[in-house]
Amino acid sequence: MSKLVSERPGAYRAVISGYGSFAPAKILTNEDLAKMVDTSDEWITSRTGIKTRHITNDNETTAFLATEAAKRALAEAKLDGSELEIIIVATITPEMVFPSTASFVQTALGAKKAWVFDLAAACSGFIYGLSIVQQFLESGRYKSALVIGVETLTKITDWSDRTSCVLFGDGAGAVVIERASAESGGILYSTMGADGDRWEALNCQAYGSRYPSHKKLEDPKKIYMEIRGREVYQQAVRRIVESVAKCMEHCNLSIDDIKMVISHQMNARIIESAAKRLGLPDEKAFLNIAEYGNTSAASVPIAFDECVRAGKIKRGDIVIFVAFGAGLTWGANVIQF
Ligand code: ACO
Repeated sequence: MSKLVSERPGAYRAVISGYGSFAPAKILTNEDLAKMVDTSDEWITSRTGIKTRHITNDNETTAFLATEAAKRALAEAKLDGSELEIIIVATITPEMVFPSTASFVQTALGAKKAWVFDLAAACSGFIYGLSIVQQFLESGRYKSALVIGVETLTKITDWSDRTSCVLFGDGAGAVVIERASAESGGILYSTMGADGDRWEALNCQAYGSRYPSHKKLEDPKKIYMEIRGREVYQQAVRRIVESVAKCMEHCNLSIDDIKMVISHQMNARIIESAAKRLGLPDEKAFLNIAEYGNTSAASVPIAFDECVRAGKIKRGDIVIFVAFGAGLTWGANVIQF
């Protein structure tokens, strides 16, 4: 392995000690969607790689999904919720406008000494969250944190719009991060970016302050997600390639050093195209979009949990997390697990 260079060679590292995920039991298949809109399994599979997605029922809320994933991550870390000091919930489909989804998760976990908040960076939220926690743990100020990526995007999906309804699913993934000695691995580097000029490429406009609930919407569709697929596609490939390349350069990594790149699962073709440009072999570009669809902030931690449980990633392996989404936002973390 090449000599690893971490972001801040200090006294402490931020190490992933637990991981877990949760997806609702209900499955919506491409065949089901073909009965709802003018689409087909063939179109969806060939354009996106998606076959099924997990869908919440009315009782399964964002905080519920987040808590289930968090409990699994805490069990894996052998940590009690009461020991957590920071909880970040990355989501754009929160439990309520306020308080934060993280407040409900805190109560459910009995995490009385934690400070908690939601992070709205869409699909990149989990990556941003890890970077924030990295700073607090490496500084020595805190010992433990929980970062959750969770979405219930199907609750803001327009089920009559075939260009968007085939893409999304619900789920949650979580990691417990703990402070460890400087010799440990952990989060070695994080890079993030944003381009607010392109906000219109992916948005959901009601009911924020621009379109408050007391005002009649001139376009009732504004309560749903809107995407400009082609624009997103091109930007996604570009930013994923840039972010991974930056990680490799900063940490002095070759392709051989990397066990797995875990990308946000927005479209199998985007991931395959980015992997090709990076010279990454198929077995190092993880894909589980066929089962889950696009779960936004939840997709990287769900994929990570699956990889570890399947034995595809072991302690000590180098993994790169990378994501791109609404904002626009993007980012990547280098992890030595
Ligand atoms: N079934 C059948 N036909 C469809 C469907 C569908 N579900 N959706 C669109 N089409 C049609 C279009 O109407 C169009 O028809 P036309 O040529 O007669 O006009 C044709 O298929 C091609 O449409 P494109 O949009 O050009 O198809 P493209 O190959 O770009 O694939 C897709 C669309 C899958 C959305 C792709 O652009 C993509 O994956 N983009 C990025 C994914 C994304 O936006 N994710 C959201 C990020 S999530 C977040 O941040 C919250």
